[in-house]
Amino acid sequence: MKRTRIILGLSLAMMAVGLMSCGGFAANGKAKHVTDSHDLWLGDISVPDEIPMTVDTVGAAFIREMARMDMKALGIDLLTPLIDISHPDNLGDEGFYIHCEGKHGYVTAGTYNGLLYGLFHLERMAACGQKLTDGFKLVESPAYKYRVLNHWDNPNGTVERGYAGKSLWKWDELPGTIRPEYEEYARANASIGINGTVLNNVNADACMLSREYLEKVKVLADIFRPYNIKVYLSLNFAAPKHLAGLKTSDPLDKDVIKWWNDKVAEIYSIIPDFGGFLVKANSEGQSGPQDYGRTHADGANMIADAVKPYGGIVMWRAFVYAPESKDRAKQAVEEFKPLDGQFRDNVIIQIKNGPVDFQPREPFSPLFGQLDNTNIMAEMQITQEYLGHSNHMVYLHPMWKECLDADTYQKGEGSTVAAETLGKVHGNTDMSAIAGVTNIGDDYNWCGHPMAQANWYAFGRMAWNPELSSQQIVEEWIKQTFTSEKKFVAVVATMMLTSREACVKYEMPMGLHHTFKGPDHYGPGPWDRSSRPDWEPAYYHKAAADGVGFDRTSKTGTDAVSQYHEPLRSLYDNVETCPKELLLWFHHLPWDYKMKDGKTLWDELCYTFEEGIREARSYIGMWESVEEYVDADRYALIHDKLVRQAKDAIWWRDATMLYFQQYSKMEIPADCTPTQHTLDELRRFRLGITNYENPAIDRLPEYTLE
Ligand code: GCU
Repeated sequence: MKRTRIILGLSLAMMAVGLMSCGGFAANGKAKHVTDSHDLWLGDISVPDEIPMTVDTVGAAFIREMARMDMKALGIDLLTPLIDISHPDNLGDEGFYIHCEGKHGYVTAGTYNGLLYGLFHLERMAACGQKLTDGFKLVESPAYKYRVLNHWDNPNGTVERGYAGKSLWKWDELPGTIRPEYEEYARANASIGINGTVLNNVNADACMLSREYLEKVKVLADIFRPYNIKVYLSLNFAAPKHLAGLKTSDPLDKDVIKWWNDKVAEIYSIIPDFGGFLVKANSEGQSGPQDYGRTHADGANMIADAVKPYGGIVMWRAFVYAPESKDRAKQAVEEFKPLDGQFRDNVIIQIKNGPVDFQPREPFSPLFGQLDNTNIMAEMQITQEYLGHSNHMVYLHPMWKECLDADTYQKGEGSTVAAETLGKVHGNTDMSAIAGVTNIGDDYNWCGHPMAQANWYAFGRMAWNPELSSQQIVEEWIKQTFTSEKKFVAVVATMMLTSREACVKYEMPMGLHHTFKGPDHYGPGPWDRSSRPDWEPAYYHKAAADGVGFDRTSKTGTDAVSQYHEPLRSLYDNVETCPKELLLWFHHLPWDYKMKDGKTLWDELCYTFEEGIREARSYIGMWESVEEYVDADRYALIHDKLVRQAKDAIWWRDATMLYFQQYSKMEIPADCTPTQHTLDELRRFRLGITNYENPAIDRLPEYTLE
């Protein structure tokens, strides 16, 4: 077949070349030094206005990016963009091919979106000090088709579990006022390959579907479109009742079905490329099909049928659990496995990485390996609800990768969570998707902690290519965000790469989980009480005179292990083979249980906390050793936060082990960091913050670092 190779319209090529040859490193002609936390990893996030962008122009973002290309840094004299709709490498809608002949670089794609991603790749190379050399060839296309951010943003401007200020979306100003951050946000996302965003909280306010709000949403959709980002909304399942006054929201009721069909038609008349819906139903008090005796499949399919003619999708969450259950970790499988095969082909079941709730460490959710005829996707949490909010530096990619690389063994070895969610295990690759609950707010630095920007970055890079290593991603982030100076990169990469494991150790080592203080989930509260048993830490740690840990074994426990395929089932079931990292997730063991290294369980816990405390403390000195490479503002802010993180590590240990000590009656070993507060003092300590706030560093309990 003859290949169609079209050089982009001459005027575009000329304009691009013209702009390039007028030599600007950035479009505004200034080579900007990276010092500003608002710029993220982009060096200069601002979107130039030299080239007017009519909001819905396909290719407009590509043209702008072309204009800011730093060819000198790439070692080339010329860069030519090519559209080739039948490239032999099968570039699809979003892939690109970069090659270089002499000093002439080429970026080829089947679409403007592919070209845009190619340009961002080149920008990343330039910022990381890589050159395009003669003979260079690279083909890339994204692994996941839907690479989606989930905002838990409310219409009143608050962000559920958001620790970076208020919502980025200023609903009260829209549609009239357009903030520059909207386009900056789109550009940042496009640079890492994100192609969808759910704008509002899964605990959804029905008002988001009102005409008034849809007009506001349209403005954002128009701004994001040139960056290949589709807009999605979380829906409130009871919207027919709340918004239209219908008597019911029963998904099988014909008036309800009509209402959704009409509503969807209205949405697509306003936003023709609307992506679809995210749904939290019958979970934590949200309405859903079960309110009417219907199943999750009934509910999801009704919405799926409404969006299907427009190419929309439904991401239906599997995060469901009821207080009556003896084991929350089993409930998603119990609920969804019987429905396997009943969902429409434009429904994707969105599953949190672990079976409980975004804990610092969980085994992967067994639901990833339990469905044969249903599309599934993973939901990761980028915002650090359980990992120190935006006070702690915790690089999350190792945690997500641990999940994606985990083997479910559903169809034998190699049925990893990545393979399952990419559709490779069951051959449904056209519906592959991954979601990340964002950490973005209206804070000047977007994420509250400058280091937390790395998690936004890493999520996008992982969604594009789940095989990239944590190290590769963090190193490229550091180089783009700070400097390529060798010492700086080495030290900061070490801090970040070890930080997740350190956090597990100082918060909830060895499979402990949900020992948090509620409702803010910042700091320890193993003694906490709540209105529901499954919201109380004791439900999970089960500390008592006879020991600690949740017995999920087959013989004496809840048999949650049976939701895993062999060999995992036996591995987890047997206390001898269960990995130390998950021991207390699956087993309830006596305090003096002998570990493989000869220590008692009690001592092992104390020393694992101790490792976490020491690692957290070591980050302060490491950061001080690279002060000369960082601007004063970011240096000071990160330093303050690292100090607080190290103090919090001791707080966690004090609270957890002093609480457990009431039952174990054992002593914390003398060579561990001494406790600084009594259990009573810690129990009395209240933060007085809501779900939506990051605790102020100076209001946290007094701790000193030696
Ligand atoms: C957690 C979180 C809630 C959130 C819920 C969800 O429980 O604390 O704030 O609404 O997850 O994912 O739906």
